[in-house]
Amino acid sequence: MTQDELKALVGRAALEHVVPGELVGVGTGSTVNHFIDALATMKGRIAGAVSSSVQSTERLRAHGITVFEAGEVPRLPVYVDGADEIDGRGCMIKGGGAALTREKIVADLAERFVCIADASKLVDVLGAFPLPVEVIAMAAPQLARRFAALGGTASLRAGVLTDNGHPLLDVRGLAITDPLAMESEINQWPGVVTVGIFARHRASLCLLGTAQGVRRLVF
Ligand code: 5RP
Repeated sequence: MTQDELKALVGRAALEHVVPGELVGVGTGSTVNHFIDALATMKGRIAGAVSSSVQSTERLRAHGITVFEAGEVPRLPVYVDGADEIDGRGCMIKGGGAALTREKIVADLAERFVCIADASKLVDVLGAFPLPVEVIAMAAPQLARRFAALGGTASLRAGVLTDNGHPLLDVRGLAITDPLAMESEINQWPGVVTVGIFARHRASLCLLGTAQGVRRLVF
């Protein structure tokens, strides 16, 4: 199977975790696009969706799925999203698609985070994928110095602003052996909007697409 077929497999598999009659939180990315297309088959049985990006909102609405603002919703039973990397404890790197801030906000509303990913995303230690960090522009040089002190090399993602209008740093060369500690540390730095380590909001379940089928990792 191709990587895209594995993404489609887990996108469909996530449907069984959508709670009928309730809202569902929807992430962003190519794997989530498959989930949204599958969700359209049960759109009459859900109350609607809360989206984490303009891109996902447009795709949901194109399927006739009602999209609610995160601020209108006190809680979600489940949030479904992809990841750039996920480790054996359900901690993730996210933000390859630049949607990390809204993804963390919507994930924070949810009781369960169901991660959908192809098998290439499962790693022993997070950090081979460059860590995305949404930042306030004037802080970027100082934040780059702070990452250098941790052994990382930060570069601005060229030509990209988030849906919130901020630039992104991509940080290469970090070995994230303690995701919770590193997320907490970076969260304290002035000018950081969101760091793409999802340890406080780690996955409860990962549906991993493999050549043998969907592997379930429960955390
Ligand atoms: C977007 C994300 C995505 O979930 C992540 O980049 C994975 O994307 P894809 O499903 O296209 O591989 O965090 O900000």
